[in-house]
Amino acid sequence: MPELGVLRPPRTVLLGDGVVEAAGRTVAALGERALICTDPFLAAAPPLRAVTASLRAAGVRHEVFDGTVAELPLPAVEAAVREARALAPDVIVGLGGGSCLDMAKLIALGLSTDAPLSDCYGEHNVPGPTVPVVAIPTTAGTGSEVTPVAVLTDPASELKVGISSPHLVPVAAICDPALTLGAPATVTAFAGIDALAHAVEAYTAVRRPTWADMAQRVFVGRNALSDRWALHAIARVGAGLRGAIDDDPAARALVMEGSLSAGLAFATAGTALAHALQYPIGARTRTPHGLGVGLLLPFVMAYNAPACEARMADVGRALGTDDPARAVRDLALDVGVPGSLAQIGVQAGELEEIATAALGIERLIANNPREVDPAGLTALLRAAHAGDLAPLTPMEAHR
Ligand SMILES: NC(=O)c1ccc[n+]([C@@H]2O[C@H](COP(=O)([O-])OP(=O)(O)OC[C@H]3O[C@@H](n4cnc5c(N)ncnc54)[C@H](O)[C@@H]3O)[C@@H](O)[C@H]2O)c1
Repeated sequence: MPELGVLRPPRTVLLGDGVVEAAGRTVAALGERALICTDPFLAAAPPLRAVTASLRAAGVRHEVFDGTVAELPLPAVEAAVREARALAPDVIVGLGGGSCLDMAKLIALGLSTDAPLSDCYGEHNVPGPTVPVVAIPTTAGTGSEVTPVAVLTDPASELKVGISSPHLVPVAAICDPALTLGAPATVTAFAGIDALAHAVEAYTAVRRPTWADMAQRVFVGRNALSDRWALHAIARVGAGLRGAIDDDPAARALVMEGSLSAGLAFATAGTALAHALQYPIGARTRTPHGLGVGLLLPFVMAYNAPACEARMADVGRALGTDDPARAVRDLALDVGVPGSLAQIGVQAGELEEIATAALGIERLIANNPREVDPAGLTALLRAAHAGDLAPLTPMEAHR
């Protein structure tokens, strides 16, 4: 039987140096009044000037909301929705990193429903189409410009929560690598390694055999179409990330293409154990999402390898290596991702609690190719705490 495939891309995806100039035309096709959602840093930076110039040239009236704050606390999102409601925009333009793009999606959702946002947590709980979103990433990246999810922090919950629905997929994604030029090394590294994690976790996710198995989910597991994007993404990010840190424009372009492709892959396939572990670790250490995911990814790859050897070999081929976990570890260290959980302040005594919290994130754990049991997870976390991949090599993992 042929493999099933799912793809839910935006209506328009533009990629390449200078495509930001198409922002005006793209938004004008959707409405007359736009709200640009960005953050305080980017409000004074060149990408915003490029977008507003393009909107002006296309005759689109626009306002700027620059109040996006990291981690998107629910009260800040609700306040932004109230502010946006008074402006009654036809289109929301998200401009920035994943935080601004997610904020744009949440404002669009908040404008389109009277229900509290908390009613939409989880998968397939968004009641209908939202105000259209045009997403313009300035990091490469989260892939949020093409994904059906927005992540926020609810003070009522210890962990970040996701709202996932095909209704949250932006109508257009405008991916201009030139907008990432000059971004600091840490922003570049954490965003880029997050993209690699999206691609690797999408490529090695479980496969659900029938459409009936997939229908209830937004993130359905790996499939014929996500596989193509995932491998493409792994090769692009692998080839470009070191050069992107040095701000080489050609490398920036590779990583932007990679993060977009990774977004298209995980938008249907979903992510898995590295993301499940990052949630409790990020909440404890207050470290950026990409830092945690990038630190954990090689350990998760080594842990998963016995359950998906052929797939890991494909990942290796895309990276030009026969030891993909080691290659990802070297790449992460080279670009400045910390080498161990101890280095980011996790205490050895916390590992069991972290394992329990991660196991509770059923959606991500169920997507992982190797069954995750408490003992195995504790061994993985011990290795990541020490910053030593060796105990997770396939032979030892079978003991
Ligand atoms: N919706 C999704 O599909 C998805 C996927 C992964 C992560 N996320 C979310 O994305 C967020 C992380 O996004 P991020 O890694 O892009 O970081 P970010 O959006 O939080 O931005 C980090 C910092 O980088 C700055 N910045 C952004 N672009 C810049 C540029 N071109 N030059 C200089 N500085 C720049 C920002 O102003 C900010 O200070 C997290 O909240 C995470 O939960 C969402």
